[in-house]
Amino acid sequence: MNASIGVAVIGAGMAGKAHAAAYRAASTLYAPALPPIRLVAIGDVFEPLGSETAQRFGFERHVADWRDIAAADDIDVVSVVVANSLHREIVEGLLAAGKHVLCEKPLSDTLENARSMAEAARRAEASGTIARIGFSYLRAPGIAFIRQLIDDGRLGEVLHFSGRYWTDYGSRTDAPISWRYQGPNGSGALGDVGSHLGYIAEFLCGPAREVSGGRFHTAITERPKPLGQVVGHSRGGATDGTAPVTNDDYASFNAEFAHCVGSIEVSRVATGHPNTCTVEVFGSGGAARWSQTNPAQVEVMLNDEHADVAGFRTVALGPAHPHYAGGWAMDAPGVGIGQNDLFVHQARALLEEVAGLPAAQSLPRCRTFDDGVHSMEVLAAVAESARAGGAAVAVG
Ligand SMILES: NC(=O)c1ccc[n+]([C@@H]2O[C@H](COP(=O)([O-])OP(=O)(O)OC[C@H]3O[C@@H](n4cnc5c(N)ncnc54)[C@H](O)[C@@H]3O)[C@@H](O)[C@H]2O)c1
Repeated sequence: MNASIGVAVIGAGMAGKAHAAAYRAASTLYAPALPPIRLVAIGDVFEPLGSETAQRFGFERHVADWRDIAAADDIDVVSVVVANSLHREIVEGLLAAGKHVLCEKPLSDTLENARSMAEAARRAEASGTIARIGFSYLRAPGIAFIRQLIDDGRLGEVLHFSGRYWTDYGSRTDAPISWRYQGPNGSGALGDVGSHLGYIAEFLCGPAREVSGGRFHTAITERPKPLGQVVGHSRGGATDGTAPVTNDDYASFNAEFAHCVGSIEVSRVATGHPNTCTVEVFGSGGAARWSQTNPAQVEVMLNDEHADVAGFRTVALGPAHPHYAGGWAMDAPGVGIGQNDLFVHQARALLEEVAGLPAAQSLPRCRTFDDGVHSMEVLAAVAESARAGGAAVAVG
């Protein structure tokens, strides 16, 4: 095992700070098993944010150029948390320099770039360098519990999946243009939040084989140019100028998974829903649903109940459920677990793999770049379906 592991985060925006906080907390989950984690560098081209983030989360330094992280001898593990179109250059540079990488979803902006990254990951892994993608919702206890109910057979045969990821960060016309609004159809709401729902649906319902009914809509076609830096979904001041929105505010599609059919609907203009990720699985023996708005509970309905009291019951998640017992400092039912916490489990899983802990004694491994490519193949099939007026398109 390494004597210590030095970590860096490239991108100090909305999700970058979650990665920084997660590396800080990763050692506090579960019994001590990791070597000392050194919080070494935050890399961000925007100096004020990068240096503030380094100070805030206790990292030793801020650098503006990611190449300084690639070249640094004291850094072993790097999270790449920048705009999707920047992932390829930075990730491939880091892997070539022998750094273990955790890349944010979606793996890249285009399938071609994602496939190149997966190729680079294969070359790197041959010499022991680990490349993983952050499918953070796979760490959600509620989603893992629904998968357990399916695996245990308690929901019977899975018949139908429904997923909705509604956000409203783009619902105001004064939300300024940023990288999120630029790119081809499919790189908007679908790439941003639909990428999460795609892998969640496949985790619960098996691989997607075919999609159909692809539909995109851009509800707000022009946005103001910002006065300064846009971080995450921030608004702030705007100039008089505007820029066109080139990708989807709204997307929907149907899918045929290995175990059932389903539908997915995503939006960044769902006013009143800052972050509503909802999944429902309907089976011959019962049903279960989970939403990010109440992430510490799952609603379960089982057909074996007396008919006069049949219906959904609310289960408070706790140590009886996956990703919980022995992990969090306050290890009790009903305490709650939120989206920031998923990043801590994710960071811990990566660090356990880098530290050489056997898989059987570790959290479920982070997913590979090949999984990231597959996830983008699903999104690309949706885009093709939309271009073909909703026609059925095979995945892959
Ligand atoms: N897993 C999740 O829940 C989740 C949530 C949000 C975002 N994300 C993903 O994280 C990534 C980043 O999204 P975000 O919302 O944090 O973006 P953001 O726009 O808030 O932040 C990006 C940061 O990158 C910096 N940056 C730009 N170019 C750079 C460069 N060349 N080198 C270093 N830094 C650079 C910017 O200054 C900015 O601070 C995306 O891939 C997104 O899909 C994941």
